[in-house]
Amino acid sequence: MTTAGAAEPPTGAGAQPQTSRYSDTPAETLWGNVEPVPEDATLGPTGRPLRLVPDPPPLQRHGDALVIAMCNQKGGVGKTTSTINLGAALAEYGRRVLLVDLDPQGALSAGLGVAHHDLELTVHNLLIGSKVVVDDVLLQTRIENLDLLPSNIDLSAAEIQLVNEVGREQSLGRALEPLRSQYDYILIDCQPSLGLLTVNALACSDGVIIPMECEYFSLRGLALLNDTLDKVRDRLNPRLRLYGIVVTMFDARLLHSRQVMARVVEVFGDLVYDTAIARTVRFPDASVAGEPITTWAPKSGGAEAYRSMAREVIHRSNL
Ligand SMILES: Nc1ncnc2c1ncn2[C@@H]1O[C@H](COP(=O)(O)OP(=O)(O)OP(=O)(O)O)[C@@H](O)[C@H]1O
Ligand SMILES: [Mg+2]
Repeated sequence: MTTAGAAEPPTGAGAQPQTSRYSDTPAETLWGNVEPVPEDATLGPTGRPLRLVPDPPPLQRHGDALVIAMCNQKGGVGKTTSTINLGAALAEYGRRVLLVDLDPQGALSAGLGVAHHDLELTVHNLLIGSKVVVDDVLLQTRIENLDLLPSNIDLSAAEIQLVNEVGREQSLGRALEPLRSQYDYILIDCQPSLGLLTVNALACSDGVIIPMECEYFSLRGLALLNDTLDKVRDRLNPRLRLYGIVVTMFDARLLHSRQVMARVVEVFGDLVYDTAIARTVRFPDASVAGEPITTWAPKSGGAEAYRSMAREVIHRSNL
């Protein structure tokens, strides 16, 4: 059987379930009061009819941030790209957003034009409990409403330095606590591993968004990631939820892409965002420019896709 064949698409009318075996949340709860889908609605990239997601209303007050870990132990699937651009799109909608770089590669910081190699104070200092206050590490980006806690290679020492600490899994949560009142969303860009840094992110998050490259082998890693989420939920953070899966690097012209998408929707149901992020060279180009795509190429399909995802995230979280 070819790899594409192994991801056989569902067939027949009842093939796209409304709930997922990974979530006992009924679709109505996940989606709030979404208008009923008209019979002649256009099919979206997921193969489902596109739901109408309203433009987010302005917020009357800010704070009590929802903390979201952008997590997938597989490398190069679009975690950092999604963190930057979802964050920038949420900020465009008037939400106050903090991005946390939790990867020693510092790609999130670099992608926002921060010369992270030269930074003295980073997330590392916050984690290892040095006498640094969070305001000394916090950076404003060039985007209104979008702030950053940057990282660089110093963070690679943290896993070893934290090993003998009491409450080592809660180090990030302790550091972020004073900031929750200032933001609406805190997005944490995880590194491609399920080590102690990622566990720190999961231990202090309300939910997880999994960016998944639209490729057959990506499906395999999701089971392991789900096991980790279960363990963290049992042992460290009972409120942790899987908010959703965003399929990245999607190419609707390719049968393989459509088959993988159908399989993800079959397994995860409504947890899959209606928005899929298409594969385009404009994302790497925007990273080189050190800007989100929403400002670097504001009218591009990529910018519109992350705005559409932001509307789904706001609608689902009711913030
Ligand atoms: N939709 C897309 N289309 C084309 N290229 C993309 C897309 N999304 C991300 N990329 C590119 O793919 C590469 C990997 O993306 P990204 O760094 O966001 O992944 P990651 O999951 O954070 O990687 P890592 O696991 O190394 O942290 C980058 O060069 C990025 O510019
Ligand atoms: Mg990354």
